Amino acid sequence: MTPAPSISEEVVPELLSWGGPRLRDLPWRRTRDPWGVLVSEVMAQQTQVARIIPRWEVFMERFPTPEALASAPLADLLRLWQGLGYPRRARALHDAAGRIAAAGRFPATVEELMDLPGVGPYTARAVAAFAFGLDVGVLDTNVGRMLARLVGERLRPAAAQALADELVPEGDAWIWNQVVMDFGATVCTARSPGCGGCPVKRQCAWAGSAERSDPARGSAGVSGKQARFEGSDRQARGRLLAALVDGAVPVGVVPSVMQRDPALADRLLADLVAEGLCRRIDGEIVLG
Ligand code: ADE
Repeated sequence: MTPAPSISEEVVPELLSWGGPRLRDLPWRRTRDPWGVLVSEVMAQQTQVARIIPRWEVFMERFPTPEALASAPLADLLRLWQGLGYPRRARALHDAAGRIAAAGRFPATVEELMDLPGVGPYTARAVAAFAFGLDVGVLDTNVGRMLARLVGERLRPAAAQALADELVPEGDAWIWNQVVMDFGATVCTARSPGCGGCPVKRQCAWAGSAERSDPARGSAGVSGKQARFEGSDRQARGRLLAALVDGAVPVGVVPSVMQRDPALADRLLADLVAEGLCRRIDGEIVLG
């Protein structure tokens, strides 16, 4: 059996002393409210931090609690979600708010959190660490990339998660996971990583070597390139939802709103209806 990959113990204090003083000031880092943290992490699943910041603030003013969101129509949330993309996340968040409100308490373990709609291992662990301070490692694309490079090999999911968990300094899951995310976002980046100024270059098996291909490629937790948006189904669906924010759309004009041929528009519309993102009422399509 090949030995489990390991990472030098020095990495943790090195990264903490590098990252602690330069932690990015993000609005959701100023709260430990599990609802605020959950909302930020669902938004961060597929959208860049810079685009989330203003949206998160607006969201938290409008829906400050799970109860506030659960009692609002989905259409209100979809209006607010406009431009963030991947609106199924909004639908799932609305369902999650309903469950939390009905239960009367916020789920507080990784397992309970994963029972919520739209919450996978990544989001559950992020809420566990950032809201409840549980000692769990959050394996997002940034962390997955850093781990693979440090050990110098592409990791399987179980090995990557085990490494992420092992590194968490006891009692310091909040700061540790935030620092590692910032490290991945600003130094150990996907393209042209800043190995010259890296605080853990000496402990890194890859260290940006030009001779060795990047071990992060295809490693657990590391996302590949996002699919092209121009010409995609996502673009066509987004066009219809954007139009619906302003009011009902007659079924007959859906193809021209989507800028797709009628057969494809029909299929995409059926998907949106099945996902609960819009409805047909008397020959018209409405949001939610
Ligand atoms: N991406 C996902 N969660 C994040 C967080 N808490 N801070 C920065 N980037 C993130």
